[in-house]
Amino acid sequence: MTRARLHVRGDDRAFTIEVGQTILEAAMAQGLELNHACGGVCACSTCHVKVKQGRECLSEAGDDEMDQLDEARDVALDSRLGCQARLLRAPKDGVVEIQIPAWNVNAVREGGH
Ligand code: FES
Repeated sequence: MTRARLHVRGDDRAFTIEVGQTILEAAMAQGLELNHACGGVCACSTCHVKVKQGRECLSEAGDDEMDQLDEARDVALDSRLGCQARLLRAPKDGVVEIQIPAWNVNAVREGGH
């Protein structure tokens, strides 16, 4: 299996993420709104997501990502930067589940993107 279902909490649409893709790449390829103010180079924290399922199949967070997450709002243990978290292998149950922090969703809506 080279892909997983990408489930976004509160969103009924069916997304997928391919092995080798970051969460942000998968989102952008499928019209899922996820902020990426710096263009995906780990220089902001607007692509912050919480990974609820399948976290063990994502690349590990590096120091740069940890530094950016330090600055992010509403950070939890399951927080990742969508542009840095890359799917390395398909999860056993075939699902990666993320939650986009509420303030981030609001920012997207208010920003009119
Ligand atoms: S898009 Fe800026 S850190 Fe991910």
